[in-house]
Amino acid sequence: MQGMHWVFGYGSLIWKQDFPFVAARSARIDGWMRRFWQGSHDHRGVPDDPGRVVTLIEAPGQSCYGCAFLIGHDVFEHLDHREKNGYERHELAIHFKDGQVVDGVTYVAAVNNIAFLGDAPMSEMLEQIRRCEGASGRNVDYVLELARALRDLGVEDPHVFDLETKLA
Ligand code: SIN
Repeated sequence: MQGMHWVFGYGSLIWKQDFPFVAARSARIDGWMRRFWQGSHDHRGVPDDPGRVVTLIEAPGQSCYGCAFLIGHDVFEHLDHREKNGYERHELAIHFKDGQVVDGVTYVAAVNNIAFLGDAPMSEMLEQIRRCEGASGRNVDYVLELARALRDLGVEDPHVFDLETKLA
């Protein structure tokens, strides 16, 4: 399909825009939660020592807040490559603050992807995040940048802010 598409960003997409977009709006998706449960073999770690980055986990009754970007169809080529380590495009409804709802997509790293890590005790997550580094930089910086971007959007996310506080 050609034309323009809304892409919901909830992780690095909300603080690292290395892609063209024509609009960016604070947004929400329902039925999902953001968790540092995905391994990063490329950006924030290496295959032998993957870092921890966010994915979306199905969570009925919960919402995840982030930022939606309006992009041209050709931008998917870049985003698909950037998100290639386990993430797949997933179609869903994106809600804006004024009540408008649009059809869009988001990148989900599903629980059965090869790089999925899942939950772990806080001490293990912190140790892994402190240690890991990949082609895009330190894993710690991914957490700190995400927390900063969420604060700028006025989003409260205890899971992310707790990690930030403990890493700072
Ligand atoms: C996203 O930002 O929406 C996808 C996950 C990531 O690249 O951190």
